[in-house]
Amino acid sequence: EAKTDGRRYLQAEALYLPGEMAVEEGETLWTPRLYASYSAHGLNGMSQQFHRYLRANIIRFPENKPRPVHLNTWEGIYFNHDPEYIMRMADEAASLGVERFIIDDGWFKGRNDDHAALGDWYLDEQKYPNGLTPVINHVKDLGMEFGIWVEPEMINPNSDLCRAHPDWVLALPGYEQATGRHQWVLNLNIPAAFDYLLERMSWLLGEHQVDYVKWDMNRELVQPGHNGKAAADAQTRQFYRLLDILGERFPHVEFESCSSGGGRIDYEVLTRCHRFWASDNNDALERNTIQRGMSYFFPPEVMGAHIGHHKCHATFRQHSIAFRGLTALFGHMGLELDPLAVDEQEREGYRHYAALHKQWREVIHHGTQWRVDMPDSTTLAQGIVSADQRQGLFIVSQMAMPDYTLMMPLRMPGLAANARYRITLLDHPNIRLTGEGGHTMRKLPAWMETPQTVSGEWLMQAGLALPVLDPETAILIGVERV
Ligand code: GLA
Repeated sequence: EAKTDGRRYLQAEALYLPGEMAVEEGETLWTPRLYASYSAHGLNGMSQQFHRYLRANIIRFPENKPRPVHLNTWEGIYFNHDPEYIMRMADEAASLGVERFIIDDGWFKGRNDDHAALGDWYLDEQKYPNGLTPVINHVKDLGMEFGIWVEPEMINPNSDLCRAHPDWVLALPGYEQATGRHQWVLNLNIPAAFDYLLERMSWLLGEHQVDYVKWDMNRELVQPGHNGKAAADAQTRQFYRLLDILGERFPHVEFESCSSGGGRIDYEVLTRCHRFWASDNNDALERNTIQRGMSYFFPPEVMGAHIGHHKCHATFRQHSIAFRGLTALFGHMGLELDPLAVDEQEREGYRHYAALHKQWREVIHHGTQWRVDMPDSTTLAQGIVSADQRQGLFIVSQMAMPDYTLMMPLRMPGLAANARYRITLLDHPNIRLTGEGGHTMRKLPAWMETPQTVSGEWLMQAGLALPVLDPETAILIGVERV
């Protein structure tokens, strides 16, 4: 805020509900931490400081292994779980280069749509008559890790749990609690409710070889109350406690904070989880701006980025596999689809982008990220440069018809000024198509035709000439020090 005398001030606080906190004399109240960063080098400088801090102090990957490429079943099969079919999906996933296979919502008792069963964390024996173990073994035999979806903090009115314990709902007396996605929140401050969840999650993780948990939270806390008092903070602390105990009991298990995508993305939860699902909107065009926004605060290795269907389920917009693949490249990559239900050309695309991601994963997940300002508002450019400045990867995404008839050069920040770099066009959407069938005439810059070596100083200050790109396409450029 600006004060009347021109000085700026900033105010930050924990947002407690009325009556939620009362501190006695001499008592200490621990509010959430405030993380702040200042940089004289713009938003890139600020964002890089946040990334560095997170990598050094917040994010802890068990065994520090590379981030495995996912296949998540949600948009592929939704609630239709047939173990035989799921195992065939796993076969196909493994052949595409997937390294972790995750069964999403729909595996537990009575969960055939989103109206019922949250809270009943028992296997649906109608869908899985032989248990989960054959599926898990199958996935493991294929060399992949196994993951599973849960949403422990929630309870559907239509569930055995709610029928047995209607008083376990997080609510205030006298206020008719509204449902969100047909569900209420479970009051984790009730010890029996907490212990029930701990027991059920320990059953799931202890009696099955689970490597990864996609932990969802698909509605807000509305008038959350415990013992007649506001209890949002208390609920959150219990959620942390639950995750902390599970983390101690199952130290090899990784957790994703999903929350409908984006509902719970912060530095405190990131001390306990390993990945976020950025949004349920998996339209590659939308994802470009969603991911860019997220990238200011979070590095690519914790940002779930999945290749979705040719026709996006959220918007029905259609994108080429190249645009979807490149859009998912700069995150923790995965597939969000049924690989059996597509043609070989699509599958070839998944294989290609999974391989490309693995090839550059070390740089993407450990390098320094740069957002590059482009004069054309319809162009989004960003890059990642390895810490030793030997390798860099830049992506230019054309979001819409360009404002201008010519592309401005792409400046590539973060390189070593006195070094020379070989420039390679790593991936492109039919960029060589020029003037055909009324298509916009296009002259390709020389470096795209014949490989070039350019100084870091030139690339950073003058930049690389770019071709005109079609709307909703992207190109990927690699630089390697020679
Ligand atoms: C949320 C998640 C999705 C999926 C569904 C399952 O919407 O964001 O990815 O897991 O829940 O119900």
